[in-house]
Amino acid sequence: MCGIFGYIGPKPVKKILIDGLEKLEYRGYDSAGIAFMNQKKAEVIKNAGKVQLLKEKLDSVEIVSTIGIAHTRWATHGQPNSINAHPHKVGNITLVHNGILENVSEKRIWCEQKGITFQSETDSEVIAALIYLAKGNTMLEKIETALQDIKGSYALAILCDGEEKIYVTRKDSPLLIGIGEKECYLSSDLSAIPKDIVEYLFLEEKDIVILEKDHFKVYQNGKEKLKQPEKIKREEKNIEEMTYEHKMLKEIEEEPEVITRILNHYLKKQLPNLEKYSEIHIVGCGSAYYAGEIGKYLLETYAHKKVLCEIASEYRYKNILYEKDTLVILVSQSGETADTIAAMRKAKESGIQTLSIVNVLNSTIARESDQVLYTLAGEEIAVATTKVYVAQVLLFSLLTYQMLKEEKEKIREEYSKLSFYIKKTLERDQEFKEFAKILYTKKQVFFIGRQIDYALAREGSLKLKEISYLFSEAYPAGELKHGTISLIEKDFPVLTIVTDSSIFEKTLSNIEEVKARGANVLTITNQKTGNLLEIVLPKIHPFLQFFLVIPCLQKIAYDTAKLRNCPIDQPKNLAKSVTVE
Ligand code: F6R
Repeated sequence: MCGIFGYIGPKPVKKILIDGLEKLEYRGYDSAGIAFMNQKKAEVIKNAGKVQLLKEKLDSVEIVSTIGIAHTRWATHGQPNSINAHPHKVGNITLVHNGILENVSEKRIWCEQKGITFQSETDSEVIAALIYLAKGNTMLEKIETALQDIKGSYALAILCDGEEKIYVTRKDSPLLIGIGEKECYLSSDLSAIPKDIVEYLFLEEKDIVILEKDHFKVYQNGKEKLKQPEKIKREEKNIEEMTYEHKMLKEIEEEPEVITRILNHYLKKQLPNLEKYSEIHIVGCGSAYYAGEIGKYLLETYAHKKVLCEIASEYRYKNILYEKDTLVILVSQSGETADTIAAMRKAKESGIQTLSIVNVLNSTIARESDQVLYTLAGEEIAVATTKVYVAQVLLFSLLTYQMLKEEKEKIREEYSKLSFYIKKTLERDQEFKEFAKILYTKKQVFFIGRQIDYALAREGSLKLKEISYLFSEAYPAGELKHGTISLIEKDFPVLTIVTDSSIFEKTLSNIEEVKARGANVLTITNQKTGNLLEIVLPKIHPFLQFFLVIPCLQKIAYDTAKLRNCPIDQPKNLAKSVTVE
């Protein structure tokens, strides 16, 4: 999703802006650009495509300015071309924008009636025009007036010709400011700000911050407000230090370490007690939602809780009749997913308690939810989530574990070996490659399973389709014969997960049904099925058995995408953090 970066201070801005943009690349984007002050006027340089192209374009440009803003765009309004790329300049106003202006048509017409000729198809240029046209004696007043009746979300960094300042504001879209020694950075993403910056300003909704070289001021509703920066300890590790071919591979390999870290941290702690809630709603998007599906299965099966698991973009618009003692659990890697934020706010407005399971420290969901459990997985850079998904399901497992009435000792013992089991599973590289060799030539794949195996299948299928561009669908194994089985023909690949011994025989019957119609069945199981192509995992305690399937599915997706020469870390059309609805 779009990324914003900016700098004001004593250093020349060109390299700083490019470095910032490169750190934002992982989020997914289609064009990039910068603006810097040149003899009191903002100059814009931008193009479609990668930051590398922009960098080459900038090689021949001398930039002495020490004030600039930058952007990576993920198209929402208009094609991904250089005209639609940010920054956008209207009159003396130049800005970069993340988010979506919902009443754009009405505002565009209004601006055109006032004489503006738009260059691009973007909603962001309309915001620049609204600020340019707004009444007000100062930039602060103009920005406030312009943003007063716009609908939608925004994070904005704005330059005004003739001023040595950057104006920054946000609503429903992340933006933070790093405060250094007589310098300030701004970014939509903490990871783009240099690691030696320790003080940060987290903007409240509609705060407007005026950044100057050696100080900043924060305003809300036209009034200055005192706001102290917060100190944050950043992770030591550097993305540049990686020796892996892909970040996704590195992140999968980190899973044993993440598991150990989480267990060491949380097994000693009292986790939030879910016992007291009559109902639990789990809400998230994509893989976070699928992690929630695992959570639902665990809480229902082992803790006998009443659980609803919902996709955030649906949940936010549903008419929900909350029981008084409901807990809403929000699951999110980034903590900035627009739909999940909206779901959280919906619950809070109804007076419902919220608990978040989040990876990014101090993100919006982490800050606004009543309680937060951090997944402690470290920075995740590849667009497709892997280690954080593992961390999310481990937290659900631990929340359930503390409510268990039986076998706690046995399971605790098994937890202590979990990291080792995952490590051993990851070593079975040859078997994953065998599966990938079959899948990569196909056009479509089915994943099937029952109960928790179905929840795993859904995430496995998402992982495969998002990075290998193979059409893939997950089905409850027992549901195929109600329609979908008509698609099965000779050599149609069906990846089957069978680890739940209570329904082992049932899934085997479903395997026979697709085999009888010519399907090429691949199985991941903990008990031999007799199928030719199968990965047989060691049998561990049923409470934790599903963990071993996850790295298999992730590696199979990875190996398949590699054989198909796909850009694994940045799949087309996808973004790491989905901050628009
Ligand atoms: C898939 C993937 C996405 C995210 C989803 C939610 O690999 O990464 O499906 O899980 O966009 O994002 P977060 O967890 O940041 O809320």
